[in-house]
Amino acid sequence: MKLLEIRQLETGYGEKQVVFGLSLDVREGEIIALIGPNGAGKSTVLKAVCGLIPIWKGEIYFNGTPTNGSTPAQNVVRGITLAPQGNRVFADLTVMENLEIGGYPLPRKEAKERITRMLELFPILKKRARQDAGRLSGGEQQMLALARALVPKPKLLMLDEPSLGLAPNLVATVFQQIADISKEAGVAILIVEQKVREVLEMCDRVYSMKLGRVVFEGQPARLKEDGETLRDLFL
Ligand SMILES: Nc1ncnc2c1ncn2[C@@H]1O[C@H](COP(=O)(O)OP(=O)(O)OP(=O)(O)O)[C@@H](O)[C@H]1O
Ligand SMILES: [Mg+2]
Repeated sequence: MKLLEIRQLETGYGEKQVVFGLSLDVREGEIIALIGPNGAGKSTVLKAVCGLIPIWKGEIYFNGTPTNGSTPAQNVVRGITLAPQGNRVFADLTVMENLEIGGYPLPRKEAKERITRMLELFPILKKRARQDAGRLSGGEQQMLALARALVPKPKLLMLDEPSLGLAPNLVATVFQQIADISKEAGVAILIVEQKVREVLEMCDRVYSMKLGRVVFEGQPARLKEDGETLRDLFL
């Protein structure tokens, strides 16, 4: 069953159109990779899905219901969360306070229970719950951003370049953790990544964007075996 359905999306910033008639589906429990060169509009698509920027034209359905015009908070309650690109934690707040921000749209009691659950899932964060998030290592901050996006118990978790700033040896570990979470909790994942080879290993399907349009859609194996096509997608 389709969880997210983007139909002929057009959006952008001010006068500037960035996305031109993009369609994309995520089914329940799927891991979908969205790849493409810098400036293609990948982050913009994620922002439109969570309601951070308006939809100019087209439709976005979540669980069959149109989300056009809803606020990010309404979308969180529906089950859509985003771990944004870069600047992912509030450095001057503690680990606990960062998680509380993730629980803000939930009823208080439920937020508390979910935070406790996340601290069980990420023991490193539990140990550092009272430390300022800015003092965590890059990989630990990554984990915190992930945990924060998971607090509201999303049905769709969107990750914008989770490997950014990670030591190369940590990338595989973080990706494995993301895949495990998806499987265990049945969370669908829409992941934007520049670490293309690595993300092709973990995803069920892949979309590649160029200049605001989908230029490839299919099985990751097709790209893994075909280095030339993969290179073309980024030229
Ligand atoms: N807040 C903004 N205001 C105006 N233009 C923006 C804004 N954010 C992004 N853009 C422009 O929209 C286009 C697409 O940007 P977007 O961030 O979606 O690309 P991306 O595919 O995520 O790139 P990257 O891989 O570098 O993160 C770019 O031309 C960018 O300059
Ligand atoms: Mg981006």
